[in-house]
Amino acid sequence: MDNLKDKRIILGVSGGIAVYKAVELLRLLTKAGADVHVIMTSAAQEFVTPLTFQTLSSNPVHTELFNLIAEREIGHITLADRADLFIIAPATANVIGKIACGIADDMLTTTVMATKAPLLIAPAMNVNMYTNPVYRENEDRLRRFGHLFVDPVCGSLACGWEGQGKLAAPETIFEAALAVLTPKDLAGRTVMVTAGPTREEIDPVRYISNHSSGKMGYALARAASRRGAHVILVSGPTCLPAPLGAEMVCVESACEMQAAVMSHVSRCDIVIKAAAVADYRPVERNSTKIKKQSETTTIELCKTPDILAELGAMQMRPFLVGFAAETDNLAEHAAKKLKVKNLDMLVANDVSQADAGFNVDNNRALLLFRDGRSTECSLMSKDELAEKILDNIVIEMPATGHLA
Ligand code: CTP
Repeated sequence: MDNLKDKRIILGVSGGIAVYKAVELLRLLTKAGADVHVIMTSAAQEFVTPLTFQTLSSNPVHTELFNLIAEREIGHITLADRADLFIIAPATANVIGKIACGIADDMLTTTVMATKAPLLIAPAMNVNMYTNPVYRENEDRLRRFGHLFVDPVCGSLACGWEGQGKLAAPETIFEAALAVLTPKDLAGRTVMVTAGPTREEIDPVRYISNHSSGKMGYALARAASRRGAHVILVSGPTCLPAPLGAEMVCVESACEMQAAVMSHVSRCDIVIKAAAVADYRPVERNSTKIKKQSETTTIELCKTPDILAELGAMQMRPFLVGFAAETDNLAEHAAKKLKVKNLDMLVANDVSQADAGFNVDNNRALLLFRDGRSTECSLMSKDELAEKILDNIVIEMPATGHLA
């Protein structure tokens, strides 16, 4: 995932208790390879010292509008001109008000005024300030100018109040920054991703499921959303946060997943079936808890609907990408699945390996295509693999419309 590599980002930090979260955001940005230049207001310096930001960014921190030593080399204009993205996190009501009214009276607001880079604002303030009509008008005005916001979240605020006003998580702001700098090669496309396991209930307390964490599917949903697609994420039970901007459809069983997929498929250009769907379900679900009686017991199972095969058999269908979880003869089993289910592309995983596949952050895969070509993806993070899969989809899929 190289979209932030060597990108020059200005991180504007204004005063508020949430300044400590900007430190974590800086760490995420630099880890992704961005060249981050921090500007702090004088209020921000009351909470965290510039030295913390300087150490983590490996760049001098800008605090003064007129710095006699540095001004000739890195003045606010130079900084503003060279930026690919300008983030303000946390952004106080005061700073947002000043920007909305064209006031430029310190290093941060002056550089904002001078930049042509996209501006991403993450507000943090007391809930009554956040709902104040003056503040609301300032925010609306900046949105109308095309500036982007990462909304604060609800919770208990440092001031003692409960409500919306907490700075969004550093990971959320990072994801929004990544989205701004990602080329939109899936703009105008609707992508459905299925993710996670399914649960097939035996009785009110027991079910049949598998080890899928949903991480691969969620990484695909995040990546497709970043690339401009409208994403429908049909998810089995997972512990993962909903990807930014995705339309979530939560399901439990294979039958529920089938119903959800079929009701949305006509809107989709691409379907990626990363879910680990249970192949069998109990013929009957006991309405009460099954009591322990004999030494052994038998549960009668029947096949679940094969959702991917059903999609592959459609007359007019979206570009179809399946997954194959195998423990042996990976290439052979995968090639057969691609043909039998009539897919355009298949991502094959060897789930017998401890360092990849189910429930871990990394994966390696063999990508197979309809015409018999294949390409290997070595061990990498699921986020990186998601990008590789989408790169290949963008190359392989037809320019418009459904496939016949
Ligand atoms: N799949 C599906 N519906 C099912 C079972 C699987 O849509 N009832 C999809 C999965 O989402 C995946 C692909 O089919 O994209 C392959 O799943 P996998 O479990 O590897 O293979 P199966 O087809 O179930 O065959 P087997 O378990 O025999 O390997």
